[in-house]
Amino acid sequence: MNSAVRDISILSEVSADDFRGAMRRLTGGVSVITAGRGKDISGMTVTSVTSLSVEPPALIVSVNREASSWPLIRRRGFFGVNILNADQIDVAERFTGKDGVKGAARFAGADWFTRASGVPLLAGALAAIDCEVEEVVERYSHAIVIGRVLDLQLSPRTAALAYWQGQYLAIDRDEDIARMAEVSVPLPRPRC
Ligand SMILES: Cc1cc2nc3c(=O)[nH]c(=O)nc-3n(C[C@H](O)[C@H](O)[C@H](O)COP(=O)(O)O)c2cc1C
Repeated sequence: MNSAVRDISILSEVSADDFRGAMRRLTGGVSVITAGRGKDISGMTVTSVTSLSVEPPALIVSVNREASSWPLIRRRGFFGVNILNADQIDVAERFTGKDGVKGAARFAGADWFTRASGVPLLAGALAAIDCEVEEVVERYSHAIVIGRVLDLQLSPRTAALAYWQGQYLAIDRDEDIARMAEVSVPLPRPRC
């Protein structure tokens, strides 16, 4: 076992429902992880992408080991991170797999391109990031995947897609600043 892992004694049991409820309050940026090459491809919607380091450029994603994309990520050693823009809710929904669509069929209806690793990258994503698996930590139901960034492409669009309290939210800097200006109350001028 990794020497950084400690035995922890839990004083009171936290239920899965309570923990799920707590995590619903955490706003997450929505990405689609892609894996595979050619017709042997799959992908999944995630909110667990986090930056690990800038030098070298590296990120982390937490992947359920029951997900159909996991064996592909593990076997091929590469994956894509596609940070979705506010107009890509349909892509997010398709890659949750809730309509039963699997594998390459999930990619229908959107444009994809490839870079060095060959994994599909989503055209128009806020950022499409080509990654190589550097390390995997398998813990509980999930695998924590550390990815080294090989290449990336940014889109000029900046409105982002977030997920909070079980629903998708669009975050648009310009619109949200305008809305905040509408509702903000002017502060009284300080008396000198
Ligand atoms: C908003 C949202 C965020 C999700 N985030 C994650 C995540 O970070 N990690 C994960 O393993 N599954 C996550 N999921 C679930 C996967 O999208 C889903 O289990 C997977 O696509 C199903 O895969 P399969 O049908 O390919 O097995 C998330 C689902 C939704 C709707």
